[in-house]
Amino acid sequence: MPTVVVTSASRGIGREFVRQYAAEGWQVIAACRHPESLDRELRAYGSGVRPIAMDVTDLAAVEAVAREGDGPVDLLLNTAGIAGSGDDSPGAVNYADWAHVLDVNTMGPVRVLDAFADRLAAAGGARAVTLTSGMGSIGDVGSGSQLVYRTSKAAVNMAMRARAFSLGPRGITVVVLNPGWVRTDMGGPGAAISPEESVTAMRRVIAGLTPEQNGTFLNWRGGGYPW
Ligand SMILES: NC(=O)c1ccc[n+]([C@@H]2O[C@H](COP(=O)([O-])OP(=O)(O)OC[C@H]3O[C@@H](n4cnc5c(N)ncnc54)[C@H](OP(=O)(O)O)[C@@H]3O)[C@@H](O)[C@H]2O)c1
Repeated sequence: MPTVVVTSASRGIGREFVRQYAAEGWQVIAACRHPESLDRELRAYGSGVRPIAMDVTDLAAVEAVAREGDGPVDLLLNTAGIAGSGDDSPGAVNYADWAHVLDVNTMGPVRVLDAFADRLAAAGGARAVTLTSGMGSIGDVGSGSQLVYRTSKAAVNMAMRARAFSLGPRGITVVVLNPGWVRTDMGGPGAAISPEESVTAMRRVIAGLTPEQNGTFLNWRGGGYPW
């Protein structure tokens, strides 16, 4: 069975990816900061779901997780992300918070992708998907709110487009994917779609990815998104 790595198995969209891929029989490396807290439904998949501790800001931890096995990895899902802690209007920016958001949302996905690159290349035709946001689109920006979060996602978009050039020749298709506005802790209860709906649609998009789509920015239903 194919293997998928998910970087935020504990809750939200990452947890739903774990649930759906495990239900299909994939081997799921369910990374999260506190694997002991993984819920009972995910644990019920037994050896199909392997909880493992990984904070995406900790390079040594990320590299240790990647070295724990040597089998091919067919799919990497960089799902971990944070919104930032508050007001970032002019004069109110908390620069330490901004640095932390960049660490998690921009550098985190690069750490994980680079650590798993050899195992992805070994799979032949692997995909590396990073969840971005419409808020990271410079072409689509319509408000000055959430500067911290927006910049972290715009930056990860560029990072993954650059990595697409480096890793495409090794057979890895690298894309960024906007999950839509999803009812999670981050998206809030008033969001437009459930995690199940978003993940079901994104799994369809991921399954249909071709090498020609390497380095693209896609929406959760598969259309292109403006950079
Ligand atoms: N929900 C939306 O409407 C929406 C829209 C656009 C984009 N996105 C993106 O989609 C992704 C998933 O969002 P979500 O809605 O599922 O968010 P969420 O419900 O707030 O969950 C965030 C996840 O990220 C994990 N995480 C945070 N910091 C981490 C770190 N340093 N290392 C490892 N894991 C860490 C959290 O783990 P803990 O449980 O340990 O805190 C949690 O599992 C994010 O990248 C987000 O930016 C979401």
